[in-house]
Amino acid sequence: MRLFVVTGSAARQRTDCAIVGLHESGTLAGAGAQLDSALGGRISRLIQRGDVRGKSGEVALIDAERGPAQRVLVVGLGKKEGFGGKQYKKALVAALAAAAKTGARDAVSYLSQEPVEGTDVYYRARLAAESLGHALYRIPAIRSSRKPAEPHLKSLGVAVAERDQQAQAQRGLEHGAAIAAGTALTRDLANLPANVCTPTHLAQRARELARAYKSVRTQVLNERELKRLKMGSFLAVTAGTDEPAKLIVMRYQGGPARQAPVVLVGKGVTFDSGGISLKQPPGMDEMKFDMTGAASVFGAIKAAAELGLRQNVVGLVPACENMPSGRATKPGDIVRSMSGQTIEVINTDAEGRLILCDTLTYARRFKPAVVLDIATLTGACVVALGAHLSAVMSNEEELARLLEEAGRRAEDRCWRMPMAEEYHEQLKSNFADFTNSCGREGGAITAACFLAKFTDGLRWAHLDIAGTAYLTGAQKGSTGRPVPLLMDFLIHL
Ligand code: BES
Ligand code: MN
Ligand code: ZN
Repeated sequence: MRLFVVTGSAARQRTDCAIVGLHESGTLAGAGAQLDSALGGRISRLIQRGDVRGKSGEVALIDAERGPAQRVLVVGLGKKEGFGGKQYKKALVAALAAAAKTGARDAVSYLSQEPVEGTDVYYRARLAAESLGHALYRIPAIRSSRKPAEPHLKSLGVAVAERDQQAQAQRGLEHGAAIAAGTALTRDLANLPANVCTPTHLAQRARELARAYKSVRTQVLNERELKRLKMGSFLAVTAGTDEPAKLIVMRYQGGPARQAPVVLVGKGVTFDSGGISLKQPPGMDEMKFDMTGAASVFGAIKAAAELGLRQNVVGLVPACENMPSGRATKPGDIVRSMSGQTIEVINTDAEGRLILCDTLTYARRFKPAVVLDIATLTGACVVALGAHLSAVMSNEEELARLLEEAGRRAEDRCWRMPMAEEYHEQLKSNFADFTNSCGREGGAITAACFLAKFTDGLRWAHLDIAGTAYLTGAQKGSTGRPVPLLMDFLIHL
């Protein structure tokens, strides 16, 4: 995929497909107007007749044989008021998906010249590259028939109005391409079925990353080593399965060797049946996505390596299955975590926190500047925020704010939830230091409170992505979130 910046008049720019925007009940402006007059008013006639209306995401493909562009794709931008990054991205994905269905080998987007609320040239270029990634993404489906044909679209130009915006746009494209590559890896991993994407498979993919990038080193710890580290909580989750658990360590070095790293911890439950506290059958297949936190750590490491991020990042992935069996952990069992704290396992389906807590303890050895964990942790988070925003919880106001801001800029938003003292009390146990589960009320928060017991003295935040990691229904599949948020946070650190 080739990405480049375009300057100058649309009336002189040769391309297979020019993409111009139209607001609802608006008129063509800028590049749209230039192309329209080059075509003798063909586009404005379509608008006058009401054939093209500018509804958000609507596309009209116009043959422009003799123009500088072979085709013009008019994409609806929706209402002019409040036209922000989200609508911009939606329009671009629609336009690029339509362009990819044609024979066009290259396209030039003039949407980047539109004013988009809360963005600058850098973000408009970056979001364009990310949108291209989404438009061209195909689930690596496992089918008996031959693969669908590759799209012809191989390059995208992003137009800027002024020459002095070129460098910024170029940087946006490079960052966007890296984020798109990371996001695609996250989606590929998360979309794989659990019988393929085992902890062992994830470990292999981590080794692959180290082979592909000089800046990445990978280390994989097996169960014997986890025992030696006294990760009794992590091991309690994997007790019921025959698949060996792994703790995957990926180190990206982009800063000076002595610079404190950001540690990303991703929940890697490759299948969550609930264990002895077995889940209901409806929707249980979706628990193959319970390793999306881990997949987003893979994606972030790849994106960091692709863009040459000047930070050190350590990715930690506890990977295992949560299955029932004669050897499985039972409700009421008490386990000792690596921190020494004991946990009464009330519900074996609250397993994410059990693997994360030992990994958070392990994270201390990297003397991190910041620790972020990313997890499809609670159904309660889906109830609270739905599929639109991730939840963020942190022991530091400033860190939560930085993450909320990164999410806004990256169009991958999150919302802070409180971790007040009262919630901690819900985790009291008569038999151990605390329990792993305490009923449904405030479930996303109490899960975070559990993790907070392992993060004393660390700058730590937790992202619950249970609602945002994947879509259900006809659109079922990984979204690649929160890779854009994570990368924006890392870029601005
Ligand atoms: N992986 C689930 C959380 C989840 C639910 C993610 C729905 C995506 C969609 C997690 O391990 C889990 O089962 N959590 C329990 C916790 C409860 C037992 C305290 C839940 O949310 O029901
Ligand atoms: Mn569970
Ligand atoms: Zn789970």
